[in-house]
This record gives sequence, C-alpha cells and structure tokens, in this order.
Amino acid sequence: MKVLLVGSGGREHALAWKLAQSPLLTALHAAPGNPGIAALGVCHPVRADDPEALLDLASTLGIDLAIIGPEVPLVAGVADELRRGGILAFGPSAGAAAIEGSKAFAKDVMEAAGVPTAATLAIARPPCVVKADGLAAGKGVVVCTTQAELDAGLIAVSAFGGSLVIEELLDGPEVSLLALCDGRDAVPLAVARDYKRAYDGDAGPNTGGMGTFAPVGGYDDAAVEELLAVVCRPVLAELAQRGTPFIGCLFAGVMLTADGPKVLEYNCRFGDPETQSIVPLVDGDLLEALAAAAGGELAGVSIRSEGAAVTVVLAAGNYPEAGDTGSPIHGIAAAEAAGALVFHAGTALRGGQVVTNGGRVLGVVGRGATLADAKAAAYAGVGEISFAGMRYRTDIAG
Ligand code: AMP
Ligand code: GLY
Repeated sequence: MKVLLVGSGGREHALAWKLAQSPLLTALHAAPGNPGIAALGVCHPVRADDPEALLDLASTLGIDLAIIGPEVPLVAGVADELRRGGILAFGPSAGAAAIEGSKAFAKDVMEAAGVPTAATLAIARPPCVVKADGLAAGKGVVVCTTQAELDAGLIAVSAFGGSLVIEELLDGPEVSLLALCDGRDAVPLAVARDYKRAYDGDAGPNTGGMGTFAPVGGYDDAAVEELLAVVCRPVLAELAQRGTPFIGCLFAGVMLTADGPKVLEYNCRFGDPETQSIVPLVDGDLLEALAAAAGGELAGVSIRSEGAAVTVVLAAGNYPEAGDTGSPIHGIAAAEAAGALVFHAGTALRGGQVVTNGGRVLGVVGRGATLADAKAAAYAGVGEISFAGMRYRTDIAG
C-alpha cells in the first residue's frame, strides 16, 4: 500500500514511525513532512493546506491511502478534495471536521446527541471559560476565576477573530479519548492524559500540549467502551444522520467531573502530543486499521495496546508566545541510543544539522511495562538533548 501522510508535526512523525513497521506498506510519502519523517519516507514540498496540490501529488504517486494529520487542512476540506479525486482518505470531510472547526457547531451536535458537556452561559461572569469559536491551535481557551482574568481573557480570545463561546467552569481530571471511526463504527485507542499548561504544576497559559502519558489508570477495555458509548458513539450517529459521517480519528477531550464525564471539546484528528504516547503502545498493524476505517470497514477490527508510554515535549524558550528557529539541536542520537523515541515536531535541516523550527520542537517518548518505567525512560532521553532556550515540564506523568 502506498501511503501519503499529510502534516509535519510530532503526531505525523509518530504515525510515520508506526506505519513504517507495517508489512502492508510499500511506500511512505509525506507532505510536507519533517526531518524525522524524512528518515522513514519521501518528503514532498507540498503544503498540508493546499488541497489541489495534494490531490495532484497523490494522483501522480498512485497513492492508495492518504492520512491527514492536522485540523486546518481537514476543516478546509482536503479530505473532500482527495475523495473527489478518487483517493481513499483517512480524515473527515469539512462538514464532519466542523466538530472541531466550530465550538458552537460542536455544542449543537452534543445537545442533539445528548452528550454531557459544560453549560453555555449567556453572560460572561467569573468563574467561567472563554473560548474562541474557531481554530486556535489549542490556545483559544482561557479559564477565568476572577474578573481581572475574565477581562484579559476576553481580549486575548477576541484576538482570534470570530465569535466567542462562554462556558460553565468545570472541575476534575481530564482524559483524551481517541477513536478510529469509519462513519458508523468506532475503535478506541489507549486513553491518554495531556498536560496543556505551559509550566510545572499546571501553571501558565494553555498550550497545544506539553506532554502526555497513556494509558490512564482505571481504563480497562470495559471502562473505555463505557466512555466511548457516552462521548463518541452518539456524536458519530448524529453526524451520520446529518449526512456528514465522520471518517477519521475522533478525539474527545473529557473532564471527569463529580457528575460524570463531560466533553470539553472534540478534535477531528489524532491529538498531539497524545498520539506520540498512544501509537507506540499499539500492538498490531495500525495501517490495516486506518485503511479499514477509511474504507468504511471497521466492523470486527480491534486495537490492542501494550505497556505504558510517556511523552515529554521539548519546547522553545518562549513557547507558547513564540517559537524559535535556527538553533542547533544536540543529542537526538544519544537519546535514541538510550532507548527513547524522539519525534520531530518543529525542526528543520540546515546544512545537515537539525535545528529548531517552531514552538514545540521535539517529543521525547519513553516506553516501559509501567508508567514509572516509561517516565524514567522519557526523562533519561530528555537529559541527552539540548538546544538554546530549551524548556520542558518536569512533572509529566506525576
Ligand atoms: P479545549 O481546547 O476546549 O479542550 O480547552 C483547553 C483546556 O481548557 C482543556 O483541556 C481544559 O483544561 C480547559 N477547559 C476547557 N473548557 C473548560 C471548562 N468548561 N471548564 C474547565 N476547564 C476547561
Ligand atoms: N493535545 C491536544 C490536541 O491535540 O489538541
């Protein structure tokens, strides 16, 4: 099977790493990819958000399956364009991707499907949560417990343009549930926890994610299926009924409140950095499962996960305010030699040297039989790597 992977982050590198192990894979192409993916396949200088150029590339290469990583191209309709051109695609149509592209649309679907979520508030008054309606790279949400935070939050979120959603402030631990979907059926992956805040102790602003671990304790197969039945299956049914069936990875961000699980948001794609912890646990052929989902044939497919994984994101000094470019990165090979997986998220090659090229630069993944082993392996890998301004959380996985 010839695969085209669309995207250039740590999520795509993790997927590429797993796909490269599939006996079904005959060629791996990426658009645009990154220096880590380039070691596993052929990277093409085609932007992820250029639907016509992607279809052109897929047709020229004779691609059997396109896998679209990021939300921006999905919301813009890249999967529709590929399907119209006869390419099998793993990723939702623009109509289904609106579950992430618009918080107001997601609320409407949740209400129709009977999915528990935070109440929408008519008036912004602390405590509450202010959210940009549209895409904001994980940075369009401000939790406001005081009037001063609310005043600042309204200004910050308004900067994304578009309308705002004001929500009830919920409390509880969070989990990320990702499921492969074929429009009707859903197959869950290991439940993960994301560390969204910039600094240790969950201080500072929200980011795209500073680290993850999987699996989360207490989620055996029965508990995962129970959560899936509350937060995922009703939405799949609702989207199918609206004529926009969801084909791809449906990701529910869930808060485990005293009143039970409540959905904070849906994403229309694999989470990042969740995928960097979840994919290495998959015991089996992920490519076969993604192709089955894209083809509407998930019935009978299941995915087993083994062991535990912890991902620590190495970010630029000023992330999330700003990224960094051009700083040489040292020690990737040493971290890999120590047993860690190192996924490239925001890197570039300059004269043969890997340099920084973004906010979240690398994901360092440790694996082990237990979460404690995986955590030790991840931080041992982190200890080998350095670049100017490098910053990371020291408290991923407790
Ligand atoms: P979202 O992008 O909607 O998942 O929001 C990002 C983060 O903001 C979540 O992971 C939560 O930590 C926090 N958050 C979002 N909505 C709420 C809410 N209603 N109550 C409390 N925290 C929230
Ligand atoms: N880590 C959260 C996300 O992928 O949106």
